[in-house]
Parts: sequence; C-alpha cells; structure tokens
Amino acid sequence: MGNLGELVKKLTEVHSPSGREHEIADVILKELEGHIDGHKIDKLGNLIVWKNGTSDKKVLLDAHMDEIGVVVTNIDDQGFLRIDRVGGVSPYTIYQNRLRFGEVIGVVGIEGETAEESQNNIQKMSFEKLFVDIGVKNREEAEKICPIGTFGTFDSYFHKQGDYLISKSLDDRIGCTVIIETLRRIENPKNTVYGVFAIQEEVGLIGAYTAGYDINPDVAIALDVTSAADTPKGMKRISMALGKGTCIKVKDIASISNRHIVDKLKNIAQRYNIPYQMEVLTFGGTDAAGYQATKSGIPSATISIPTRYIHTPSEMVYEPDVEATIQLTMKYCEEGLE
Ligand code: CO
Ligand code: ZN
Repeated sequence: MGNLGELVKKLTEVHSPSGREHEIADVILKELEGHIDGHKIDKLGNLIVWKNGTSDKKVLLDAHMDEIGVVVTNIDDQGFLRIDRVGGVSPYTIYQNRLRFGEVIGVVGIEGETAEESQNNIQKMSFEKLFVDIGVKNREEAEKICPIGTFGTFDSYFHKQGDYLISKSLDDRIGCTVIIETLRRIENPKNTVYGVFAIQEEVGLIGAYTAGYDINPDVAIALDVTSAADTPKGMKRISMALGKGTCIKVKDIASISNRHIVDKLKNIAQRYNIPYQMEVLTFGGTDAAGYQATKSGIPSATISIPTRYIHTPSEMVYEPDVEATIQLTMKYCEEGLE
C-alpha cells in the first residue's frame, strides 16, 4: 500500500465525532512532527499548525477533523439505548448496522409489534423508532458501560481496493490527509501557511468561524469531500465524478467561492497539468462558508475531493484524485499571494 493509503487508514480508524475531537487532533499532530514551525490547540479544540513564509501574508488551509455520529439520549429498563444524530446521520444508514461507543459495540434495531408495523417503520424510518442493543440485561448494566451522553460513530474499517479507498469518515479525514501531505512536502512557502484541523463542522462550522477570527488570514481554502454522481442513475444536475481529478468548487448552498481564488486555482491546474473538474453542488456546504463570514470577511474557496456515498460507513474516493488535490493545494501555497 502506498503512503497515502497508510495515512488515510490511520486517520479514518480514529473515532472522533463532533465535540470529541481530542483523539484525532493527537494523531494528526504526530503525523506533522518535524514538518511545521509551530502549533496550538485553541480554546474550542481546533488544532492550528503553521509553516512560516517570507512575506507577511497568510494562507489558511482548513479541513474539519470531526466526523458525524450519534449520542445516547435515554436508556430503558431492559438496557436498550435511544439515540439522536450528531450531524447528518440518516436513520436508514445506521439501521441493522453497528455503532461504536468507545469500546462498546451497539446493533441498531427497529420497533414493530406486527409485521405491518415493522414494515411501516422501515418505510418511514426515524430516530423515534430505532433503538440500540449493546448486549446487556438491564438499565444498570447499560449505564455502567454506555451512559446517557456517550458519543458514538459508525463501526467500519478502512479498505484499499486498487486505487479506490473505502472507509467511514473520509469526510473529512481525506481533507486532513491533503493538508498533512501539503505541509510535509512544501518547502519555503512564500506566505505563511496555516493548517486548521477544525472542530464541529458537521454541526455548524463552529471551528471555522473561530479559527478564522483568530488567524484573520488573507485567504482561506477549505479542503472537503463533494458528492460524485457517477453511479447508476446518479443525480443528473451534478457533474462530479471519480477519476476526473480534484474539484474546484464554484458554489454550494452555503457559500460561493471567491472568483479570484477560483480563477487562480484553474490557472494553476492548467499550467501544471493537474487533472481538475469544476464543481457546482446543489446542496451541502463546507467550512468556507464560516471563514467567508467571520471578521470583516475573508476571501474563501473550497477544493474538494469527489466522493461517493458521503455520510455512510463506506465512503469511497479515488486515490489519484486525492493526489491531484494535494498537487493543486501545494502549488497554490508555493506560488503565494501577490
Ligand atoms: Co460531512
Ligand atoms: Zn465534510
């Protein structure tokens, strides 16, 4: 397995849902040892690293390090858990699947006293009808190993199949991978490059707003996944595909990328023959929306990695697209701002 796969495996194996990012922050920082000029963990838990440039301008690269998950909301007499989502988790995705609460594995079942009731609940699925079975006999046993307020994530594992990477939390550990690799490879950047491994993107871009305010960069670029529609009867108004290179985002529903940054990214991709595709996403958003609207406004954009099955235990990306994203990010940082 190539180095990229090994790094992606290491990052996606960590279970760090929104609000519980300390574990992934430690892993990322270790991977950057010897490649940065400094780091800090801010008051909310953002991991902020930097590599000094020769000018006084600042370029901020952002990837969120949290992943979507669930939280225990209640426990019944028999020890079955009730849960709510943390970020965009669909009940259809977790039904009959495993969830991981630290060392505890839970199986997701659905209510239904008759075949008809079960069928109805499956068709109109909601968190109200789902429960989690952690293999205990009663409330007391459940409270000992998985009390109310415990966070959980998908229980899944990384797999590399040829050039395809399959895992949970590629959203957005793949963006974290891009920034780590960029900081490892780049030498003597013109502008100071900040890497922000942001908290709580999945619940409202929290880390982006505060890190943007703190650093006040000249430019902020979010690295995140975007939906590929290149599957049977995939969404016909979306053009992104695996294998066509990195995605330069023009717009999603949370932000419009700064046009000067978009032009520059396109220009760089063309000059260095980096495979790229233009992206317009008709839903979703990234941390770019947070940076854009903080302080007195920060010119922002997003570079995305085309991804299938986003927000499931088996997201899928194509490794050469990830490499193209690293190349584009690196060249952008090397050329620097005027
Ligand atoms: Co997401
Ligand atoms: Zn994301």
